[in-house]
Amino acid sequence: MPWIVGVSGASGTPYAAAVLRALLDAGEDVDLVVSRASRLTLLDETGISFRDAHWRDDLGAWLARGADGKPDSFAPDLGRVRYWNAGDLAAGPSSGSYPVKGMLIVPASTACVAGVALGLSKDLLQRAASVTLKERRPLVVAVRETPLNGQTLRQLVALDEAGASVVPASPAFYAGATHIQDLVDFVAGRVLDAAGVEHGLYRRWKGELGGGQDEQGVRDQ
Ligand SMILES: Cc1cc2nc3c(=O)[nH]c(=O)nc-3n(C[C@H](O)[C@H](O)[C@H](O)COP(=O)(O)O)c2cc1C
Repeated sequence: MPWIVGVSGASGTPYAAAVLRALLDAGEDVDLVVSRASRLTLLDETGISFRDAHWRDDLGAWLARGADGKPDSFAPDLGRVRYWNAGDLAAGPSSGSYPVKGMLIVPASTACVAGVALGLSKDLLQRAASVTLKERRPLVVAVRETPLNGQTLRQLVALDEAGASVVPASPAFYAGATHIQDLVDFVAGRVLDAAGVEHGLYRRWKGELGGGQDEQGVRDQ
């Protein structure tokens, strides 16, 4: 069964790329939904125009580069990705009878958070999220906004109470980050942790202060 990955229009398309790469690397199947607004953030952050008719080429170009825009060594197997247009409300993930493991929304805009908290289902991404909740499947919401207003905070509580894991896109610095991709991978790794997917995206805390600095020293040699 696949994981649904919903990419909404918050800043942070490198987080989505890192999650997608790691899922494929772990041998997982992916159903991908890219919101209309996220095409703007993707264009802004990578220069890539995501086109339905050429989604495989565009996704390949996106996943083949790191957060710094430079080529990544990862050669993604896109044969395990199924792409659904966000306007296609008849798509598989719009029904609870369509078998999936769960859904990761990365990054999640505040508009998406509001829509899912209210059950708006204004597009396939929001509908698939509502379905994930009603079917009691894992839903991970990697919200990306700062500062957060009270309305969004209340909606995040509503999502938590509905069973979702709210994983703010907030990198930590204890894992020895030396490059932008390390910070991106930390967030992507925490998203996958919440979903229970194995990965090696970041160095886990081992109970010793200063471990991250040791790691930095090793990497910089
Ligand atoms: C370049 C750009 C960056 C944006 N960054 C954010 C963001 O970080 N967080 C957020 O909540 N909305 C952000 N937005 C606004 C959302 O794209 C907008 O609310 C949109 O309606 C979200 O729709 P969606 O949830 O269907 O993708 C951004 C928009 C643009 C064009």
